[in-house]
Amino acid sequence: MKTLMALLITIFSCQIAYSAPIGERFHEETKHTWIQILRDIITPKPAMPPRFKEYPNLPKIRLPDPKFKGISVEEALEKRRSVREYSKKPLTLSEVSQLLWAAQGVTGRIHGILLRTAPSAGALYPFEIYIFANNVKTLTRGIYHYSVRDHSIVLIKEGDFRDRLLRVSLEQEMVRDAPVVFVLSAIFDRMRSKYGERGFRYVYMEAGHISQNIYLQATSLGLGTVVIGAFLDDDANRLLGIDGKKEAVIAIQPVGRP
Ligand SMILES: Cc1cc2nc3c(=O)[nH]c(=O)nc-3n(C[C@H](O)[C@H](O)[C@H](O)COP(=O)(O)O)c2cc1C
Repeated sequence: MKTLMALLITIFSCQIAYSAPIGERFHEETKHTWIQILRDIITPKPAMPPRFKEYPNLPKIRLPDPKFKGISVEEALEKRRSVREYSKKPLTLSEVSQLLWAAQGVTGRIHGILLRTAPSAGALYPFEIYIFANNVKTLTRGIYHYSVRDHSIVLIKEGDFRDRLLRVSLEQEMVRDAPVVFVLSAIFDRMRSKYGERGFRYVYMEAGHISQNIYLQATSLGLGTVVIGAFLDDDANRLLGIDGKKEAVIAIQPVGRP
C-alpha cells in the first residue's frame, strides 16, 4: 500500500511539473543563470548551416538600388499604424526593393561578415525573406526569395497563391488583397549553433526588429502594412517548401497602398 502511495505521489508530482504551460517552461528552461551558462559551454551545439540560402540554378533579378531619403525616423514612428485595407494599385519594383532593403539589406561589413539593417544576436542572421508578388509592376506573379548579398530576388515558384495565403492566415483578407506579402522564416540552427536553445528567444526578437523596419519603411513610402502572427504554421511552411523544423515561418506581413 505504502509503495503504491509513493508511486502515485511520484506520478502526480511529475504530472504537475510536466503540465506547466509550454511558454512558461520555455522561458524557464532558456533563462540565463551562471550554472546554466557553464552547462551551456559544455553542451554540444548543432553545426552552423550556410549563412546564405541560395538557389544557384535560378536566374536572379537585380533590384534597383535603395534610396536614402524620406521622412524622419520620428515622423515614421509617429505615423506608423497597422493598415489592413489596400487599394488595387500595384507596387513598383523600386518600392519592393526599398522594403526588402529595409528588412534585411546590407549596410556594413566587419571581419568579413555582412551587417544588415536589423540587429542580430552574434550577427548570425537566421532570417530568410520571401515575398509573394501578387501585383508588382514588371514582376511575374509568384514567390520570390530575397538574396541579401547582391540585393536581388529569385523567382522560386511561379503562380497565383492568393487563395492559399488567405487560408494560411486564417482568412485574414489583407493577405489575399495585398500587392506584396512578405514572409519571414528563420533557420534556427544559425542561432542555436552559438546560443543553444536560448537562441530561439533571439530569433523571435529579431523577427520584431525586421518587421518594424518594414513598418517604418512602408510608412515612409506612403504604404501600409500589418504584421501577422496568427497563421497555420504547417500550411505556411508547405507553401514555401520548408520543413517547419530546421526552417520555419515566423511572421507574415502584407504591404499595399492604403
Ligand atoms: C507579434 C504580433 C502579431 C500580430 N498578429 C496580427 C494578426 O494576426 N492579425 C492582425 O490583424 N494584426 C496582428 N498584429 C497587429 C496588431 O494587432 C497591432 O499592432 C495592434 O493592434 C496595435 O496597432 P498599431 O500597430 O496600429 O499600433 C500583430 C502584431 C504583433 C506585434
